[in-house]
Amino acid sequence: MGYSDVYAAWQADPERFWLEQAEAIDWDEAPSKALFDRGDHLYDWFADGKVNTCWNAVDRHVEAGRGEQTAIIWDSPVTHTKRWITFFELRNRVATLAGALRAKGVQKGDRVVIYMPMIPEALEAMLACARLGAIHSVVFGGFASHELAVRIDDAKPKAIIAASCGIEPGRIVHYKPLLDGALDQASHKPDFCVIFQREQEVAELTPGRDVNWHGFQFGVEPAECVPVEGDHPAYILYTSGTTGAPKGVVRPTAGHLVALNWTMKNIYNVEPGEVFWAASDVGWVVGHSYICYAPLIHGNTTVVFEGKPVGTPDAGTFWRVIEEHGVRSFFTAPTAFRAVKRQDPAGEMVKDYDLSGLRAIYLAGERADPDTIEWLQKTTGKPVYDHWWQTETGYTIAGNPVGIEPLPVKIGSPTVAMPGYDIRILGEDGHEVPDGELGAIAVKLPLPPGTLPTLWNAPERFRKSYLDHFPGYYETGDAGMKDEDGYLWIMARTDDVINVAGHRLSTGGMEEVLAGHPDVAECAVIGVKDDLKGQLPMGFLCLNAGCDRPHEEIVRECVARVRDQIGPVAAFKLAAVVDRLPKTRSGKILRATMAKVADGDEVRTPATIDDPAILDEIRDAIRPLGYGGTRVSA
Ligand code: COA
Ligand code: AMP
Repeated sequence: MGYSDVYAAWQADPERFWLEQAEAIDWDEAPSKALFDRGDHLYDWFADGKVNTCWNAVDRHVEAGRGEQTAIIWDSPVTHTKRWITFFELRNRVATLAGALRAKGVQKGDRVVIYMPMIPEALEAMLACARLGAIHSVVFGGFASHELAVRIDDAKPKAIIAASCGIEPGRIVHYKPLLDGALDQASHKPDFCVIFQREQEVAELTPGRDVNWHGFQFGVEPAECVPVEGDHPAYILYTSGTTGAPKGVVRPTAGHLVALNWTMKNIYNVEPGEVFWAASDVGWVVGHSYICYAPLIHGNTTVVFEGKPVGTPDAGTFWRVIEEHGVRSFFTAPTAFRAVKRQDPAGEMVKDYDLSGLRAIYLAGERADPDTIEWLQKTTGKPVYDHWWQTETGYTIAGNPVGIEPLPVKIGSPTVAMPGYDIRILGEDGHEVPDGELGAIAVKLPLPPGTLPTLWNAPERFRKSYLDHFPGYYETGDAGMKDEDGYLWIMARTDDVINVAGHRLSTGGMEEVLAGHPDVAECAVIGVKDDLKGQLPMGFLCLNAGCDRPHEEIVRECVARVRDQIGPVAAFKLAAVVDRLPKTRSGKILRATMAKVADGDEVRTPATIDDPAILDEIRDAIRPLGYGGTRVSA
């Protein structure tokens, strides 16, 4: 069957399609049916089945006689370490960790926050939670204490599992003080914290609260897998929305298992036993789905890479890992290859490695620019597949179904809708626009298995953010179009979310931080183009009347404030003081117009603007930052 047959089979009978895919999963109790309609456009999948994620990701491979297969390869150029963990070892390690968590009271439904770098123990912590039916929430290491505190207060974890430190090129990220800072700020206090001490830094434990990762596992009974209902949350992953309060995306257990397992062959084209590598971080959805869960569920070996595309030690690192570990499918964000290309424009380092085992390269997380795709195709000789998805869905909405049938690549398009997704391009009036016309990208409900059924603690926000605008559809927050061949083109976000080095960030969240500066009366943050990271945040600050402090000083403080409160990952370094912000007559800040001014794009002065002269003031203010003129690519 080709792609169109498979898509048509799904369309003809979605429930049957997904029940067939569900046969690849080990159930404690099979679900009586696939789709459960809760009314009011809310749905669950496989809700009355009983299943355990850890069993499916780990134990069943041991039971099937594959215990000696490597489950995790840890390759850490920043610590000059490599490690191989078999499914058998992984099962024992995870069962013991789960036993220790259980002995300290963690049970099904309890939340556990995980704050760890790219080490195998991060995956083990996730799987140990899954084993108990506890709901983990991993927080990316590049977030500062305040962001961690916000997540702790929302998830209200019984326990926190953290490492003593992370390692960024040239510096150690001291996790323990960041964790302590977060717990000082948070109203919720966990019962205990587990600290994994790394060789690079041994943190001082807080008596009465912290336990040592190794010590607390000593002599405990290993835990068995606890079957949970199909709609039981597997995890919560916070992602950026319009405001500073992150959205807690809930991942339902059974649909997650079924859908992720399906993607490994049909999209990433790997067979069980082969090596799959996603170079991302466990703190992001790519890390959840494609470093931890999907490869393990499907019986693949997953690579956990603690390093960067460049500088650890050079721009050949990716190729070295692919050759050394026999990677068959490789997935990362375009920004990572832009970094490689910048250092090795002729692709000389590619030639130093044998990439014959690699079948294809997959890109997602941000728009894949044609230059990067073409450079990759030329230097590696491999197919390069863009695919589009979001934290909310957990896997591909539109991609190239390579394992079914590779479709012709149109550079700039992530290809076509995957089975499960009925993608429509809607105009403001909610009607479909003709092919080739730009509109809001929406997915007809119900969304397929594994996608978010709600937001943690925020069912109303879920409805408002995704369901209300186009009744009967899920609003993706992206704008784009479909062409006459059904290929999708993703053009821009329709909200205040920006994408910096493949990291999803909220400009609204940054504005909230800037507005807290005592000298700032009003502010705006926009995303401006950047050759390496795709976008960068840029802040505009209007100061309180009478403030006569040097502007550079205030800008410096604002930059430090965002780093301190959101974290280094915000990459907030560009800001300018302006007298006023461009607004409509009704007072709405014209952020999209400001972004065009900054990027040097053609600007049509909006008819509703209060005073067109402000745009020139904005342009003048950001010229010293290298923006606002005709852009010259680096
Ligand atoms: N813990 C602590 N700090 C972190 C961090 C982590 N896990 N990850 C990043 N940071 C810090 C960086 O050290 C940097 O700090 P600095 O301002 O002191 O230099 C800052 O956050 C910004 O990071 P980033 O935007 O990633 O820039 P970079 O210059 O360190 O690296 C790339 C640029 C392109 C090499 C890098 O972004 C990359 O490898 N991206 C791959 C894409 C990816 O993983 N996307 C995830 C979704 S698929
Ligand atoms: P995240 O939830 O962090 O995965 O970010 C999801 C957002 O990243 C999407 O809504 C898009 O705006 C953007 N994105 C992800 N993949 C792509 C892609 N292949 N092309 C264009 N934009 C993408």
